[in-house]
Amino acid sequence: MGRRQELEKRQTLLSRFGRLVAAESRLDGLLTIIAEEVRHILAADRCSVFLVDPYKGELWTKVSVGANEKVLRIPMGQGIAGFVAKTGSAVNIRDAYRDTRFTQDLDRVTGYQTRSVLAVPLRGRDGKAVGVFEVLNKGKGAFTDEDEGLLRILATMAASFIENASLYEDLRRSHLETIYRMALVAEFRDQKDTGRHLRRMSRFSGILARSLGMSYQEAEDIRYASPLHDVGKVAIPDSILRKPGKLTAEEYEEMKRHTIYGSQMLSNAESRLLRLAGKIAIAHHEHFDGSGYPYHLKGEAIPIEARIVSVADVFDALVSKRVYKGAWTVEDALKYIRNEEGKLFDPRVSDCLGKSFDEVLAAMEEENRRFLEEEAGMSSLPGAVRAAERR
Ligand code: C2E
Ligand code: SIN
Ligand code: SIN
Ligand code: FE
Repeated sequence: MGRRQELEKRQTLLSRFGRLVAAESRLDGLLTIIAEEVRHILAADRCSVFLVDPYKGELWTKVSVGANEKVLRIPMGQGIAGFVAKTGSAVNIRDAYRDTRFTQDLDRVTGYQTRSVLAVPLRGRDGKAVGVFEVLNKGKGAFTDEDEGLLRILATMAASFIENASLYEDLRRSHLETIYRMALVAEFRDQKDTGRHLRRMSRFSGILARSLGMSYQEAEDIRYASPLHDVGKVAIPDSILRKPGKLTAEEYEEMKRHTIYGSQMLSNAESRLLRLAGKIAIAHHEHFDGSGYPYHLKGEAIPIEARIVSVADVFDALVSKRVYKGAWTVEDALKYIRNEEGKLFDPRVSDCLGKSFDEVLAAMEEENRRFLEEEAGMSSLPGAVRAAERR
């Protein structure tokens, strides 16, 4: 192919690439598109995006195309990619096996034979290397200076996507933590182990949503919005909320208003999660047969998110000790919920509780362990922060 045709081909590929990128918003998707295109445009066999893990002092493959291995990890400073990350300079070599920086260890493990390598750093706004963009084995000959120039441009793009995504992730975490802490404040007076109840019912809600066939994103939204379902209890006087015995009819009438208070606090929120939380707050005590409160909604008229949270909340309330009642066994609680299906609960949701019972119990165990650890002061990090970090 002549030089001019070659350039035209690249132009065409780049403009197609621009369109693809514009249509994708997830980081993994974006990086995969970039890696695929780079591999294509440079006629390389493999293309990987490595990210620096500053805590472990390692590089790991965020995205890898043309390779079938899962995530690779290499220590900083080792191999070509490690060299590029450490020094910030690009490397373009024709024969890796003759380069002292190259380690054959990975090839030995993967059974791949590396020949030519072109690797450039991914730099953050502050100029530090946040990762490495690497292509392996050009179809014919070695990678050219033009190849390197192109890879540098795309590396700049990839680095800015990575940085934006991590800014967004920080924002998302602080948003989630704020929501969770708002819920804690609301129930602080109610029970001693409020945090545990909220985390458990939130996990159960997410599990039930998935089991109902909702998407991962929908289930995550329900998981994070659900702890606010009782936020309206802040407006209920202590004399009612903390009463050790049974409530009188009037007291119970006042208690029921926590659904309305909650939705008033959350209505007109801009955040998608807070709006969802409002929808859950108003309807989480509605019953499937229309006997619930505050509006006696029936069946499908009750938002599905609220039907899910209702099962999760009552299940957890039953197995917990309250000022007004003792704790039930998990088997009795499940039996109760199954027994009330079609009356209090949506049968589809209670069915999912039965089907995913092992997962529910595992989540419960995990949160109980976490609660005990925190009680024992084994961790100074707040739960919400640790939950976010575990993901
Ligand atoms: P909660 O303690 O979080 O309970 C949530 C829901 O779990 C209750 O909604 C109810 O559907 C179910 N639940 C809890 N404990 C039991 C139980 O021992 N037996 C049965 N069958 N179901 C149970 P509900 O009844 O609308 O109550 C809403 C909130 O009102 C409760 O939240 C609690 O804060 C308060 N509450 C309800 N009954 C009493 C009571 O007798 N004394 C006091 N102090 N508070 C009460
Ligand atoms: C999220 O998407 O998890 C948080 C941001 C939002 O509330 O929309
Ligand atoms: C959860 O992680 O499921 C509940 C909220 C939190 O602790 O962040
Ligand atoms: Fe409630």
